[in-house]
Amino acid sequence: MSIRIVGTGSALPEKQVTNEEIAGLVETSDEWIRERTGIGGRHVSTGETVASLAADACMKALEQAGRKAGEVELLLVATCSPEDALPCAACQVQEKIGAVNAVAFDVNAACAGFLFALHTAWAYVEAGIYENALIAGSEVLSKIVDWNDRGTCILFGDGAGAVMVQKCDTGGVLGFVQHSDGRKGSALFCGNRQLANPYVRPAAADSYVRMDGREVFSFAVKQVPLTIEEALKKAGLTPETVDLFVLHQANRRIIEGIAKRLGVEMCRFPMNLDRVGNTSSAAIPVLLDELNRRGQISRGQVIVLSGFGAGLTCGACVLKW
Ligand code: UT7
Repeated sequence: MSIRIVGTGSALPEKQVTNEEIAGLVETSDEWIRERTGIGGRHVSTGETVASLAADACMKALEQAGRKAGEVELLLVATCSPEDALPCAACQVQEKIGAVNAVAFDVNAACAGFLFALHTAWAYVEAGIYENALIAGSEVLSKIVDWNDRGTCILFGDGAGAVMVQKCDTGGVLGFVQHSDGRKGSALFCGNRQLANPYVRPAAADSYVRMDGREVFSFAVKQVPLTIEEALKKAGLTPETVDLFVLHQANRRIIEGIAKRLGVEMCRFPMNLDRVGNTSSAAIPVLLDELNRRGQISRGQVIVLSGFGAGLTCGACVLKW
């Protein structure tokens, strides 16, 4: 028994911001950003929220799957940038789309969040608890990015992607691997509200994303290929047999490094970094939806999804479309 993706959807904020516009905010250039990251632009929210973007993406995934919101049994939203601490974004999406019969909760594993949520849905189905799930990755990172920090504000974008998954007897998810290493938590960090109550004086808070770019870069280039190979081994497959590698869109040079280590040519690593930048947990489902709607994925193809991010976390999933 496994799960199969039966519908995909995505939603991006209306406003697009070019590298040139960012060069008007911090000391950088279109040339530097393109050369070092592959990013050409990103979408930035001027009002869209994690829940509104996720709800749009979810509705599109449901429509493609030919399912009604009321049929959804499990609704997961992967996010590290929810607008509100309570209720969770998944419950807000539930309300917006009318998924009245679903159990809804969030998963936060940063940029690997969508994959961790997908694995959670797989485990629920495998355990016989549910037969379907709607899973979104949604971020409005523009509100937690420091727009004065050129090391991070050039990278991130806002958006959401979603998939509808259904229990299946053959194909679907063939192998899954997840890893977390909390010892490397400081490499990519964003503070929240600090302890403050009648008994404790509040500490100075920094609630913006702080990143050791080089450390995250080298973690990704080393760990992602190992994680992909581990997942492929579980599925009884090798990198040569994979049609498409849909990876977390963080940096073109990271993807090139991973392709090189796996010994696979770059044409099997689609990218949308140029247009949307790094949208954290939304990156994989947004790219998957773009490929799906362009007809670039066909039934029976073997696809590897893999992501990494704050935690540090890393995951890979092998599936037969
Ligand atoms: O979803 C997971 C999230 N994070 C990631 O995946 C990030 C992984 N890391 C990266 O993608 C890269 O490390 C960055 C793109 C963040 C940085 O690229 P880099 O090649 O590692 O640059 P660097 O940090 O080593 O900096 C090289 C130089 C420095 O100047 P000096 O010290 O050599 O004079 C930086 O100050 O580039 C400078 N620099 C910039 N220059 C122009 C850093 N950011 C910029 C910038 N524009 N935006």
